[in-house]
Amino acid sequence: MHTATAVAHPNIALCKYWGKRDAALNLPSTPSLSLTLAPFRTRTTVTWGAESDRIVFNGVENTALEGRKILGALDRLATLTGLGRPPCVVETENDFPTAAGLASSASGFAALVLAADAASKAGLSPEALAVLARRGSGSATRSLQGGWVEWSMGEAPDGSDSFGRAIAPADHWDVRMLVVLVRSGPKEIGSTQGMNHTMETSPYYPAWVEQAPADVVEARGAIIGRDLERLGRVTERSALRMHASMLAADPAVIYWKPETLTALEVVREARRAGIAGWATMDAGPNVKVLCAAADAPSLALRLTTAGLTAQVLTPGGPARVVG
Ligand code: PMV
Repeated sequence: MHTATAVAHPNIALCKYWGKRDAALNLPSTPSLSLTLAPFRTRTTVTWGAESDRIVFNGVENTALEGRKILGALDRLATLTGLGRPPCVVETENDFPTAAGLASSASGFAALVLAADAASKAGLSPEALAVLARRGSGSATRSLQGGWVEWSMGEAPDGSDSFGRAIAPADHWDVRMLVVLVRSGPKEIGSTQGMNHTMETSPYYPAWVEQAPADVVEARGAIIGRDLERLGRVTERSALRMHASMLAADPAVIYWKPETLTALEVVREARRAGIAGWATMDAGPNVKVLCAAADAPSLALRLTTAGLTAQVLTPGGPARVVG
């Protein structure tokens, strides 16, 4: 019996992943690009060799879908090493809302594969772990890395080249991401379900896929050149185009709540007043705002004055084994 603990930060995509070209392998239809964010984190302990399989999620025994997906990741790791998998205990907790479009599955599967690799003494390569994380939740492949991360689509049919790679570390650029928590409960439609429905029924989906790669090239250039205006524009447009593809699905997928639009309006008004911030939204109603460190307090004040809340996040480091 061996136990290991790992921590990972969530990441928020600046250029979004929305759609799978291979559902079984969890391969994306678009490249994506993200920023890993502290101090939010998932902490996961894996005990490799126990009496029976047990998943404890935020202190509560879990037998539902998340539990099965977690055990699926452990099974895949055991298959890769050629060793059998003993019963395992996985204890995982988030210090931020789970499944609310705040990327808890990203930090969750990143911490899980690292802890499982250490507990099983599998010794997989970083690339193999990044692929394993992707199989659990696509965006998790980006949370293994700190800072600015690109998940390229890859070309290999087995998906072995489709995983997150660091573009620049967390200390490359001292920006801020404000999180406007509109709802903290689980989202109404899971991201896989929302993506599949958009792919199957939205006439805008092909256009979304077609334009996405150019946005990633643009964002990468903006990050390397530390050009916040350029990055902000591409960030907001990627999120709005992703949501436009969902709005055109039949029936529409609408994650937004009234406060989502309030936050968007505050950000746009602030921009008109010379405070530079750009909004992004995921598979949920919460809004995240990318801005310069110096502008974070005044943007947060504008959001709270409008009756919203704002938490300030900073670029975070890579996932790591802590014990
Ligand atoms: O990793 P998943 O399956 O939870 O999908 C994430 C989808 C978005 O958060 C909406 C976009 C992204 O790139 O993170």
